[in-house]
Amino acid sequence: MEYRFLGRSGLKVSALSFGSWVTFGDQVDEQIAYNCMAEAYDAGVNFFDNAEVYSEGKSEIMMGNIIKKAGWKRSDLVLSTKIFWGGEGPNDSGLSYKHIIEGTDAALKRMQTDYVDLIFCHRPDIHTPVEETVWAMNQVIQSGKAFYWGTSEWPAWQIREAYSVARRENLRPPLMEQPQYNMFHRERVEREYAALYDDIGLGTTIWSPLASGLLTGKYNDGIPDDSRLSLEKYDWLRKSLLESDEGKKNLEKTGKLAELCNEAGLSMPELALLWCLKNPNVSTVITGASKPEQVRQNMKTLEKKELLTGDVVEKVEEILNNRPSEPQDFRS
Ligand SMILES: NC(=O)c1ccc[n+]([C@@H]2O[C@H](COP(=O)([O-])OP(=O)(O)OC[C@H]3O[C@@H](n4cnc5c(N)ncnc54)[C@H](OP(=O)(O)O)[C@@H]3O)[C@@H](O)[C@H]2O)c1
Repeated sequence: MEYRFLGRSGLKVSALSFGSWVTFGDQVDEQIAYNCMAEAYDAGVNFFDNAEVYSEGKSEIMMGNIIKKAGWKRSDLVLSTKIFWGGEGPNDSGLSYKHIIEGTDAALKRMQTDYVDLIFCHRPDIHTPVEETVWAMNQVIQSGKAFYWGTSEWPAWQIREAYSVARRENLRPPLMEQPQYNMFHRERVEREYAALYDDIGLGTTIWSPLASGLLTGKYNDGIPDDSRLSLEKYDWLRKSLLESDEGKKNLEKTGKLAELCNEAGLSMPELALLWCLKNPNVSTVITGASKPEQVRQNMKTLEKKELLTGDVVEKVEEILNNRPSEPQDFRS
């Protein structure tokens, strides 16, 4: 396993990490979840991602049970959770001081740990002043309940605003962002955040590197029964990934990527994961899996690193035809 610094911090995270969205609690039971996490841990994964909203808290409970049962040393792990959607009550969601503190306490209890290493504001909250959120996150860190805080799917301007407030008030600034990033979804990581990596030392823990499995080629000939997009609860995801105009175009590109993979000696998941890992601004690629065999396969990806040559990357660009544009230079 390769380990990368999380942005401009002293914390090292495994280049490939593991998360529990969709799977833990909604798709797989605790034994399968255990086997998946154990595969990841044995391959050197140290970062495990979670959120209070995943399976309405069941995912955190399962992960906590698994870590306890496995007997892994807490200091060997980088655990995260994300706060925003904690329940139905008027104060159970968002990024108010109240929900951040109460949501964090409840998550720690479910995970059976005194602290998470990383805590994320799962989305921006248009109703809460950013000062309130920054003060609350600072309090979470001051009280030892988390080591670093960050954002997920925040626009660049709001990350910068939170950073400036923290600097102005002498509080802990956000360190990392958790954005979607894969061959079909590039704009934010490659273009919108571009200045933040150097300016504020932003790290990224990127999600859905396989576009929920689309980039494995498993949907090229229909929807397999045991796949994510066959789950009724995730009907919305199937519609957006397969039935939208963009989804249909992406599916076509996936067919072409499959041919390229054959030429390059890579499997489709390997190509998709290596492509994400190639970006130096990606601190860690969070993988997901519903079967331990998938984890085993995905974790071997780094062994194929040299097969993603410049030539293959260029051919990928031709197929994708979605490279984010550079800022316009009005002088030339
Ligand atoms: N911050 C956020 O808003 C946010 C949002 C989403 C995710 N995340 C985080 O990112 C993590 C990863 O996201 P993701 O689960 O969407 O990642 P992904 O890699 O795009 O999709 C994972 C799914 O693809 C399929 N798969 C994985 N490896 C495979 C392989 N080798 N061959 C065939 N199929 C394979 C499995 O689904 P099947 O059931 O079809 O087998 C698996 O559950 C999540 O667990 C979560 O921690 C964060």
